[in-house]
Amino acid sequence: MKSSLWRAEAPSNIALIKYMGKVGVGNIPSNPSLSFTLNHLRSTVEIEPSARVQWQPLDSTMKDLSEGGQQKFLRHFALLCEHWGISGDFCIRSANNFPADCGLASSASSFAALTLATYQLAKDRGQKNHDETIESLSSLSRLGSGSSCRSFFSSWAEWVGASASPVDLPYGDLMHDVIVVSRDKKSVSSSEAHRRVPTSDLFQGRAERAIQRLNALKDAFVAGSWNEAVDLCWVEFWEMHALFETSRPPFSYMTETSLRVLRFLRNEFESSGDGPLVTMDAGPNIHLLYRPDQRDLQNKTKGLMDGMVL
Ligand code: PMV
Repeated sequence: MKSSLWRAEAPSNIALIKYMGKVGVGNIPSNPSLSFTLNHLRSTVEIEPSARVQWQPLDSTMKDLSEGGQQKFLRHFALLCEHWGISGDFCIRSANNFPADCGLASSASSFAALTLATYQLAKDRGQKNHDETIESLSSLSRLGSGSSCRSFFSSWAEWVGASASPVDLPYGDLMHDVIVVSRDKKSVSSSEAHRRVPTSDLFQGRAERAIQRLNALKDAFVAGSWNEAVDLCWVEFWEMHALFETSRPPFSYMTETSLRVLRFLRNEFESSGDGPLVTMDAGPNIHLLYRPDQRDLQNKTKGLMDGMVL
């Protein structure tokens, strides 16, 4: 008997070399990026036949998506239905296993899960193109949300041009924490940020610098040069935030509290000579990636952050 409920999950990812700025159409990035897959932060999507096309929260922990967010999600579903020749109306339900209101990017995991769940449906009901690979599913997902194309690979994913792929690098077992500085909704969406950064004078040479930094970061991981990797990640997220602050018109995600926490962490880790990789996305929250042998440092930092660590 054919199924009438299709379900998939996918993890989020955090970029250490950032995707910021696009060229042409179809979410083609201006520069390559490198991410670590966050297997503990996951989205689930369920698809069920329905009288009309609609989005609903999958469970009570999932807050309503904004009208714009729902439209973007349903547009991607429509694109996938067209690609696989799926007809009919469906209800799409989604939820994250992490708080949706804490300013963490959930679009990577939710669009990846939507692509995978719709592929389940296509295999049952679709009329064409059933033989997808993980790479081709990742490319389809990119059309809905650029950064979601990296969520198909673990632990490390590299995204160059139209395709993402896994990268074999050491440190595949990093431990991830987020210092939640603010749970407010972004006032500038990441789509708007991609549109605006090319107006910054600092955008010139950005692609070349990102490529150089990405290669240097991979080399540092391979050589076991952790502190070198820490420095490269630090410069990279600051460069992205400098692009935001110097776009025309400028915009910010960095808050007073983000700055205070960053300075505190820098002093803390400089004095001990050992720290996690620190990075920030298009938001005020601070991501930390620790090596497994830094467990004590992780616990100590958590204690110092007074309940701000997720
Ligand atoms: O996938 P989008 O369009 O939401 O882009 C987000 C890009 C950043 O999260 C800011 C950086 C990245 O590479 O993930």
